[in-house]
This record gives sequence, structure tokens and C-alpha cells, in this order.
Amino acid sequence: MNRDLSNKFQTLHEIVHAAHETLSQNIWDYLRGGTETETTLKRNRMALDAIALRPRVLRDMRKIDATKVILGKKLRLPVCLAPIGSLESFDPKGGVAAMRAATEFGCGLMLSSVSQLSMEEVSNAGDGLKMAMLYKRGDNRFLDNYVSRAIDSGYDAFCLTVDSANYSRRERDIANRFVKPWRTGKGADWQAALSWKDIERYKKKYELPLVLKGIATAEDARLALEHGVDVIYVSNHGGRQLDHGLGAIDVLPEVVDAVSRRSLVAVDGGFSRGTDIIKGIALGADFVGIGRMLCYGLAAAGADGVIRMLELLEEEVKLGLGLLGANNYSVIEPSQLCSAAPTVEPSVVSAFPLLETDKFVY
Ligand SMILES: Cc1cc2nc3c(=O)[nH]c(=O)nc-3n(C[C@H](O)[C@H](O)[C@H](O)COP(=O)(O)O)c2cc1C
Repeated sequence: MNRDLSNKFQTLHEIVHAAHETLSQNIWDYLRGGTETETTLKRNRMALDAIALRPRVLRDMRKIDATKVILGKKLRLPVCLAPIGSLESFDPKGGVAAMRAATEFGCGLMLSSVSQLSMEEVSNAGDGLKMAMLYKRGDNRFLDNYVSRAIDSGYDAFCLTVDSANYSRRERDIANRFVKPWRTGKGADWQAALSWKDIERYKKKYELPLVLKGIATAEDARLALEHGVDVIYVSNHGGRQLDHGLGAIDVLPEVVDAVSRRSLVAVDGGFSRGTDIIKGIALGADFVGIGRMLCYGLAAAGADGVIRMLELLEEEVKLGLGLLGANNYSVIEPSQLCSAAPTVEPSVVSAFPLLETDKFVY
């Protein structure tokens, strides 16, 4: 039975606030944190804030279409819940709750291999667009077994996260002496050893579309294309892997240009508001991933919290499109986006100026 949270949560920041209230300090810090100086994390927001929108008017905005078809499935918003290891630390139902929310709302879900619930259990919880993401922790038999299970349980794509040759220093966790029970470090060398040969092998062996998550240059986007990768996913892991990277949306145009529609392109990193999604799609992404927003929704109210978070994002996207003078994404003209100075100091929650940051340590 779904809870109607439309009264309880009327803005996105109320969901973030509720998540903060619910989570222990260790889990909150694990969620919000990035690597070392957290420069990449802040640049994700700064880059989004540095894009301004130029509205056009008098274009009859009574009907607005915020949907998109991705890998043959119609999504109510071009959004995919990004892979999050240990979703269970935000809601005991973890991936099952996320899958239910994605299906009931109508967006995609990418399930991390760092999940207590099996990919079969998660798949059974819904029939929306689903993708299975793997950290390679064993030899090729390990990978083949994972891919076969993904195929058998109805996943629409398989994803290798490629920005994680090693695990970065997340200093909030280190300073808290927070030992993550789900992080064994076992088999990490298999992930470190990944190379383009593995991509070649996958594409020779499997038809299930392949996503490479963590592409951050046009050079690697070109290599991915040469290897027949189906979805090129621009990401810096929410600022949690290489420090001092560019903001994700700043990388998007060079990748979109290199790809020139020969594969799908996805992007994530800092996407928190409807206008962020509009910017990502207008700059050529086919869909946008959201990581921490998923966790806030789950922590605030489980699957229903995620659904409410998505409803609010949808409302913001539709209002944003209408005010931009675009009744769907494809009619947004390049001249409607331009550079501008950001107005706020970027932080993981800086998209939510109404959070009472003086009362709580975010
Ligand atoms: C708590 C947490 C756990 C994550 N676990 C994974 C993971 O298991 N696999 C992966 O590819 N990315 C993982 N990521 C990165 C997300 O998939 C995504 O790239 C990132 O969160 C996007 O940035 P955003 O949080 O600003 O939306 C994780 C991110 C967070 C915040």
C-alpha cells in the first residue's frame, strides 16, 4: 500500500532534511562525502550552477512532454536511479524498495553488485528499465556468472563501472573511523586489472547491451565507441573516486560530440533539481543518473519517499520546460543554454538553499 506523501513532502529539501534526521552521523557522512579535498564533488554542483537558461516565450505551453524512451522502455522522466552499494544502509528493503519505486514511478534503476539482496530478488520487485552493475571481484567465470544471472532475471543491460581501479580515500569515513561492513576489499585486484580487452571479450560474447560507467574524456568515449559500447555513462562517481576532476556536466559536451549519436550517453554527478535534468538532456545526454537523491528518498520514507522525490523532480522538470518555452526536450535550442557565474558556494546540498544549515551539520 503506497503512502501519499504529497502533503508531508512538498519540496525536495524537506526530503533531504528528513533523511538527515533519520540517518546516523556515520552513514550521513558516508553518503555526503567525496574524496580527499572533495573538489570533484563540489565541481559537479558548480558546473551545473554555471549554466544559465535563456527562456523563449509565446510558444503555447499547455502540453508538456517530459518523457523519453530508453532501450525500448518509455520513462516518465529520463532518469535512472544510479547504482549505490549498500542501499540497505538507507532502507532495509534496499534494492527491492528502489526497484518498486522505479517501476511505480516510471524511471530506470541500475543495481550495484554491492547489494545484500540478490539481483533476482530485486528484479522480481518490478518490471521497469533495469540494469545490473558489476564491480569485478573474480576471474572471467565470476563475470560470466553475473552476466548470465542478469540475462536470466530479465535485466535490460549490464554495466561495468570503470572509474574505480582502486578505492579512494574518503576522509569523512576515515576521520570517523567508520568501517563499512559491506566493504571487504576481497578480489579488488580483478577490478584494477580491467582493460579494453575485457570490453572486447564482453561484446564478442554477449548481446545484452553494455554500459560503461565512469567515462570522463572524449578520448575514452571514442575507444568505447570503437568497442561497440551501447551506453557511455559520463560520471566521476559523485566525486567519490578521482579528486580534482571536472564537474560531470562540463565533460558531457565533449563526449556527446565524440559519440555523435552512435551510442546512448548518460550522465550523473550533482543532479538534484528539475532544471539540472533539463540541462543534462539539453546538452545531449539520453538520461541522467541520480545517486544521493535516491538515498535521501529511501532514508526519508523508503520506496514511497523515492516515488515522492521523483514526483517533485518531474514537477520541476515540467515547470522548467514550460518556462523555458520548450514543450519537450528536443526543441530546446543550443542558444538557450549559456555560461553564467554561479550564485552559491557549491556543496553536496547547495541545491537546497532552504535547508536550515545553521541548525544541522549537513
Ligand atoms: C553511497 C554511494 C554509494 C555508491 N555506490 C556505487 C556503486 O556501488 N557502484 C557505482 O558504480 N557507483 C556507486 N556510486 C556512485 C553513483 O552511482 C553515482 O555515480 C553518483 O552518486 C552520482 O552523483 P550524485 O550522488 O551527486 O547524484 C555510489 C554513490 C554513493 C553516494
